[in-house]
Amino acid sequence: MKTVTETEKAAATGVMATAVKGTPVVDGEIDEVWSTATPIKVDRPIDELTQVSKVEMSTADVRVLWSKDQLSVLWQVNDSQLSAKSSDDWAHDSIELFVDRNHAASASYEADDAQYRVNFEGMISGLGTGFSESDVKAVSTKTESGYLVEMSINMTDSPLHAGDQLGLELQVNNDDGSGDRVSVAKWSHAENDSWESTENFGTLTLK
Ligand code: BGC
Ligand code: CA
Ligand code: CA
Repeated sequence: MKTVTETEKAAATGVMATAVKGTPVVDGEIDEVWSTATPIKVDRPIDELTQVSKVEMSTADVRVLWSKDQLSVLWQVNDSQLSAKSSDDWAHDSIELFVDRNHAASASYEADDAQYRVNFEGMISGLGTGFSESDVKAVSTKTESGYLVEMSINMTDSPLHAGDQLGLELQVNNDDGSGDRVSVAKWSHAENDSWESTENFGTLTLK
C-alpha cells in the first residue's frame, strides 16, 4: 500500500500556504517587512454559524512571517460594525489562530496544539493544551474597513526552521452589534471543529 505523506494528506483535505522569514515589531503599525508575505484569504463561511450573506460576512486578509523564536501574523479584517458585547469571547468581533506545531493532524488537541484568539479591542483568549497567554503578543487597531490585529506567538519551546511544516487554521468571528455571532469565516475547513481537532487544518510551509 502506498504511504500517504503529511503533505499529501493536507493537499487532499485542506489548503496550503508558505511563509517567508521576517520579524515585524508588534505594535499595530504595518512594517515594510509585511509586504514580503503573500496574503491568505479567510472567507469560507461556516454555514451553520452564518446568518448573513457573503458580502455582509466579516473576512480577512492574513499574512504570516516566521523567525526561529516567533510566528507573526497580521490580520486585516473587514467588518462594518464592531462589537464585543457577548459574554462569550468567541462571539466577539475577533480572530482565531490555530497552530498544530508538529502537524500531526490529530482528532483531539495534543501538547503542541493551541487556539489563540484576539478581539478587535486587543483582548487575548484561547484554549488547548499548548495554549499559554504569555506566549502571545497582540495589538488591535481600528481601520477604515474594520480592524487589524498584529500578533506574534513565542516559539522558543519549539524553535522554527526553514522547511518545517505546521498545521494552521484561521478564523474570523463576527458579531453584528446584537451580541450574537452572525458569521464565522475560515481558511481551510468550513466546520466549527478547529478548537477541538487539528485534523483539517491547512498546511503552512516555512521558507
Ligand atoms: C468555536 C466555538 C468554541 C470556541 C472554543 C471557537 O472557535 O467557534 O464554538 O466554543 O472556539 O474556544
Ligand atoms: Ca499537534
Ligand atoms: Ca462585527
